[in-house]
Amino acid sequence: MKIKDKHYHTIWVKEDDAKVVQVIDQRLLPHQLVIHDINSPEEAAAAISDMVVRGAPLIGVTAAYGLYLACLRNPAEDQLKTVAIALKEARPTAVNLAWAVDTVMEELLQEEVGKRTDTALAAAERIKADDIEICRMIGVHGLELIRNLYQKKQRTINILTHCNAGWLATVDWGTATSPVYHAMQEGIPVHVWVDETRPRNQGANLTAYEMVQQGVPHTLIVDNTGGHLMQHGMVDLVIVGTDRTTAQGDVANKIGTYLKALAAKDNDVPFYVALPSSTIDWELKDGVKEIPIEQRSAEEVTHISGWANDQLQKVRLSPEGTPAANYGFDVTPARLVTELITERGICEASEEGLLSIFPERASANG
Ligand code: MRU
Repeated sequence: MKIKDKHYHTIWVKEDDAKVVQVIDQRLLPHQLVIHDINSPEEAAAAISDMVVRGAPLIGVTAAYGLYLACLRNPAEDQLKTVAIALKEARPTAVNLAWAVDTVMEELLQEEVGKRTDTALAAAERIKADDIEICRMIGVHGLELIRNLYQKKQRTINILTHCNAGWLATVDWGTATSPVYHAMQEGIPVHVWVDETRPRNQGANLTAYEMVQQGVPHTLIVDNTGGHLMQHGMVDLVIVGTDRTTAQGDVANKIGTYLKALAAKDNDVPFYVALPSSTIDWELKDGVKEIPIEQRSAEEVTHISGWANDQLQKVRLSPEGTPAANYGFDVTPARLVTELITERGICEASEEGLLSIFPERASANG
């Protein structure tokens, strides 16, 4: 998508130095556009855990390039296995990370040692290209929902989203935002309610930035506003992303998503989750019991970051000595999800629904 009218992806191999992978440093947005160099697999793992890059699909793609950097240094099996473990451990909740590492590793270990670097690069580039196409297709399918609502209501369609499941969380298009961008292209009037998404404010910093850059009408709201808006008919549709979706359609997403789903249910507002199939963990059924939830530093809760005097500054919100808990994600049970939007189409959030569009998993899952 565009930043100041120039088209960007979130990750690429450096043009004049193929030993370096470059990403947009998301810690500094929306204040500064800084390109961050990743020179080693350790730096790839650090970029993921420090949230230079974030969002389930993008951390998967970054890990794939991390394995390419590992091959450049030493493509021996034991070295690659050590890197693969470190990359997978960089963040626990999004399953795309493990999926991407396992996908590339499987190809590498079948390859002669001397050819592994080329194979790793080709695999990372393929996963990146697939992600772009998958997100585009999520938009094509999600657009139908917005178009139907517009045909019925004949006015601006108000969409609420949480966190950043936009193009910055993927390579291009985004998941939850892709239907919005497609609706804009079709000339359907849309307006997005952007949840700020404490504690790291991915909504205020990143989704709002995307909306400004793509010219999408939007309004930033604090996280507790959604229920009020829904009670007053000001939300036509909720679309969020997900970091891990179980075979039964439960979805883990940024903390606070569950509360939006509850409010949506109570107010008959359709609650959709947009996801690439790499986010489905076919091994898991009960998301609340089985999905590992990342706990992050208490400082993200006790402090808040913002831009002042031309730099990112952190200020304290709570008294010294107040303990804080920082659960990064929560799980929304399938019963609260109206439907899932995937690259293959829209389906019910259930095992039957998922298998109806991913029939090949029926035999794989036994
Ligand atoms: O902690 P983050 O910023 O990586 O969390 C991201 C989200 O929760 C997104 O909504 C999710 O990864 C879906 S991204 C297309």
